[in-house]
Amino acid sequence: MLILPTARTPDPRTAPSLRWGILGTGWIAEKFTTALRRNTTQRVYAVGSRSQESAERFGRTVAAERAYGSYEALVADPDVDIIYVATPHNYHHEHALLAIAAGKHVLVEKPIAVSEAEAQDIANHAAAAGVFCMEAFWTLFLPKYDVLAQLVPDIEVDAVLADMGEHFTPDHRIFDPALAGGPLFDMGTYPLSIAMWALGDPISVTAYGAPAPNGVNGQLAIAMQGERGGVGALHTSIVGETPTTATFAGLNHTVVVDGPFYQPGGFTLTTRSGERLRYDEPKAAHEGGLHFQAAAVARHLAVGETASPIRPLADSIRLLRVMDTIRAQVGIPD
Ligand SMILES: NC(=O)c1ccc[n+]([C@@H]2O[C@H](COP(=O)([O-])OP(=O)(O)OC[C@H]3O[C@@H](n4cnc5c(N)ncnc54)[C@H](OP(=O)(O)O)[C@@H]3O)[C@@H](O)[C@H]2O)c1
Repeated sequence: MLILPTARTPDPRTAPSLRWGILGTGWIAEKFTTALRRNTTQRVYAVGSRSQESAERFGRTVAAERAYGSYEALVADPDVDIIYVATPHNYHHEHALLAIAAGKHVLVEKPIAVSEAEAQDIANHAAAAGVFCMEAFWTLFLPKYDVLAQLVPDIEVDAVLADMGEHFTPDHRIFDPALAGGPLFDMGTYPLSIAMWALGDPISVTAYGAPAPNGVNGQLAIAMQGERGGVGALHTSIVGETPTTATFAGLNHTVVVDGPFYQPGGFTLTTRSGERLRYDEPKAAHEGGLHFQAAAVARHLAVGETASPIRPLADSIRLLRVMDTIRAQVGIPD
């Protein structure tokens, strides 16, 4: 009989405390710093913005000790241990390199860049500088995904069904072609990453796209075959709400992860004979989950490691390689 393993995720509060420098003061920067302040002993030490006014406003909100009116000044602060890059996707490469050039460790929001070439370049610079570098793919650091990581080999997953669709107001950057708009980078990262996590690299991928009213790509249906023979059926959208669930199916077991599958929450495992096992952790949004990855990073830094085995750069690079293929198929511009 299969029993659910327990999560091995250490208590985030016991991770060594780092002095974080927050680069960019938008939506996710606010969520990330809230998660750190509520759930860890990590210090939101300094913030950097393109304007002094916004740096000071945000710095007050998150109780940062220092507020810089340029990203250059932030990364130059000798007391900052690590930079968290929270700018739009098409600036990740530039801002990761800025931090690395200043000798800083760096955690870069997802996706780590907008092409395989950019992601590889970040990895090369980080390796040459000997600094820690990781894509902030927080989902895999949640206790729920540690339990799933232990289950996946037993389930012998041969199908992944996953979606992520959400409404945004028309003024959101996700509709802005100049900020790499569309669902692929913001949301497609999740279904694609978990499908590759469970099925291995795609040996083939086919995507179909449909535009949003303003002409940027609005939704994608993606079919992939993994290197271990399984298949993925994935969807992402900025023009409609979808369940945002994930299913991992094998011959004898099926796991359905409650929506939103990428946040803290539960899942149900059903066996072929009808037995049901339920995993539950408190449901929470970003503020209740973004800190697990930060605590993991702090533990790696404390022992001199420059990468995470949970989200190695090679995985981030492979994701961007697949996204390059999808963009070419659907005609999503650089
Ligand atoms: N992990 C997650 O669950 C999650 C959720 C949402 C977003 N994200 C990722 O986080 C990144 C930022 O998303 P967000 O929703 O926080 O975006 P946002 O609210 O628009 O904030 C982005 C920030 O980047 C800075 N920035 C630098 N150059 C900019 C430019 N040319 N235009 C606009 N802003 C610029 C701005 O900060 P200053 O004005 O202070 O310089 C801005 O506040 C994206 O890559 C996204 O994929 C991750």
